[in-house]
Amino acid sequence: MQSVTTHREGEILVILVNNPPVNALSWHVRQGLKDGVEEALNDPTIKAAIIRCEGTTFIAGADITEFSQAPKEPALGATLDAMETASKPIIAAIHGTALGGGLETALCCHYRIAVPSAKLGVPEVKLGLLPGAGGTQRLPRLVGVEAAAAMCSSGDPVPAAKAKEMGLVDALAGEASLAEDAIAFARECIAKGPRATRDLLVKGDLSVIEQLKTANGKKWKGFEAPYANLACVEAATRLPFDEGMAFERTEFMKLMMGSQSAAQRHMFFAERQAAKIDGLPKDTPLRDIKKVGVIGAGTMGGGITMNFLSAGVPVTIVEMQQDALDRGVGIIRKNYENSAAKGRFTQEKVEQMMALLTPSLSLDALADVDLVIEAIYENMDVKKEVFGKLDAICKPGAILASNTSYLNVDTIASATSRPEDVLGMHFFSPANVMKLLEVVRGEKTAIDALATAMAIGKKIGKIAVVAGVCDGFIGNRMLSKRQGPANALLMEGASPAQIDNVFLEFGFPMGPFQMGDLAGMDIGWHRDPTKIDTLRDAMCAAGRFGQKNGKGYYDYDEKRNRTPSAEALVIIEDFRSRSNMKKRDVTDQEIVERCLYPMVNEGHLILEEGMAQRASDIDVVWIYGYGWPVYRGGPMFWGDLEGAGKIVEALERHGVKVAQSLKAKA
Ligand code: 3HC
Repeated sequence: MQSVTTHREGEILVILVNNPPVNALSWHVRQGLKDGVEEALNDPTIKAAIIRCEGTTFIAGADITEFSQAPKEPALGATLDAMETASKPIIAAIHGTALGGGLETALCCHYRIAVPSAKLGVPEVKLGLLPGAGGTQRLPRLVGVEAAAAMCSSGDPVPAAKAKEMGLVDALAGEASLAEDAIAFARECIAKGPRATRDLLVKGDLSVIEQLKTANGKKWKGFEAPYANLACVEAATRLPFDEGMAFERTEFMKLMMGSQSAAQRHMFFAERQAAKIDGLPKDTPLRDIKKVGVIGAGTMGGGITMNFLSAGVPVTIVEMQQDALDRGVGIIRKNYENSAAKGRFTQEKVEQMMALLTPSLSLDALADVDLVIEAIYENMDVKKEVFGKLDAICKPGAILASNTSYLNVDTIASATSRPEDVLGMHFFSPANVMKLLEVVRGEKTAIDALATAMAIGKKIGKIAVVAGVCDGFIGNRMLSKRQGPANALLMEGASPAQIDNVFLEFGFPMGPFQMGDLAGMDIGWHRDPTKIDTLRDAMCAAGRFGQKNGKGYYDYDEKRNRTPSAEALVIIEDFRSRSNMKKRDVTDQEIVERCLYPMVNEGHLILEEGMAQRASDIDVVWIYGYGWPVYRGGPMFWGDLEGAGKIVEALERHGVKVAQSLKAKA
């Protein structure tokens, strides 16, 4: 199949791209476009050309799979130059998404027509890159510095109507008549002649660049690409076009060769790969999930319920007591109303979503649901009892899921006569916000039940990852390998702030002790202040419960700003001497070696045991569930970058048993 073909419509040459799935600019597409432009120029009977795409979208960017390969001719720049400098008007006819190199192609056309549903953007920053085919130089010329800076640094696309207002699109086509409307529009353009974007003057106010940096300082902390994007847009305001292009090229290559973009590109594919179930026959029919049941109206149950209501799926929520049920339903409503007050959606939409919710005090109300998610407290006996009841109540084929964060899903399944319908759906708190969903595959879980849970995860906007049955599954199992050494390091002499700062510096949104304070140290505490076996007991005995009462490892003000706590340090010191530990200096490097390297090791063990399908799934879990910085690509990607040899040497030095596969890699 040829990825670019041409055909005539009278005096117009239509250059048609067909490179599924997203019409990326693979080398053969670049060649085809170049040839198409040449054909238009060489034929005196052709007066204008249109670039249009088959399939679901206009060109969605450069072919990212080519980035890790040797460059192949023709270069995108050469193809686009030929287009922009052509002596006959070239028109981009856009549907779906014109993204990255796709939008840059459209910018090198002389005019643009788009259907109303189209979106146009330069998402390169999300891959740790910048639009490297002139996007940073042409956008400011076409839409002005303000819009160009915002588009390049955020990567967010703009809808066609807005693009028309901005001057990015010249005309809107009918939603179903792009091909014909583009021909008519191209005929109008013949009289106007070509209009090269490079010849336009840069307009707008440069102060927006500093404003964007200030407004996004927190969000962009640690990232290189947003700043490089802005530097290029700024360069467009002071350099002639060719010099601006050279500046953009240098900045692009710096990012492309760096580890941040490699990590972010890795995550682009990892995220998509995570949705795939190894060995799943293509024709596996999914179960129809029309109605969902959630057991438990607490924080988790409420958050889980909101995901489904927001996606338009009716939910029956079950609690044991009327007041707990009312409280849970009230919180769901309040959360929605808060979002409506912030303008995220209308009050009418709140009512629509609430109308999908049926509160009940009886498990019998779950007789007709297609999926039940149990979100009660972590007690195996209670869970088994609930699943035994569900077995009797739920209709055949209903999926019975537990939101347990570490209990054995096979044991839970054994309480039913249909373990093939049982699996884990482990959401992360706050469940209506956090993107990660671990779908836990039990020994007897049916493949179609697993595939359905993964699909419903996608439907409610989650990134779902398959995990096997083991203590803590993927995420919490690795978390425990970090928490243990962090606690030990406190005893040996590090302060909570020193350890947390190493994590913040690494790029995590918070360190282990900030996380402890946020979660609340009194959760699961025995509540006897005289019984002090652990540091946590000592902190709780002193009434230091965490952020909730303003006192934990840190002191907190009313805005929840933290400062190191003298009292907490005394408690730590006291507990240390009671444990006969001697205080010593701990280096930041040791904190990395003892807290992060064991996570890499545990990831390898998880893979060896088949508890994750692939290393990149582990990266997805840590980036979407625990705030691992995306520009470091997740623990497995980072481990490879850091070097297996270095990690193994340090783990052995610290007395950690090293996974065979990690040793082999070293
Ligand atoms: N290159 C190679 N493969 C790509 C790709 C690209 N630019 N974009 C998507 N794909 C692949 C995906 O990996 C996926 O493959 P799979 O089926 O084997 O898993 C397949 O196409 C479908 O992708 P999605 O699952 O994401 O499909 P959706 O329909 O949900 O989304 C999309 C479509 C909005 C186009 C989305 O794929 C997307 O955002 N793509 C990336 C766009 C992008 O970042 N473009 C910039 C590239 S960098 C660039 O252009 C540099 C230039 O400035 C020089």
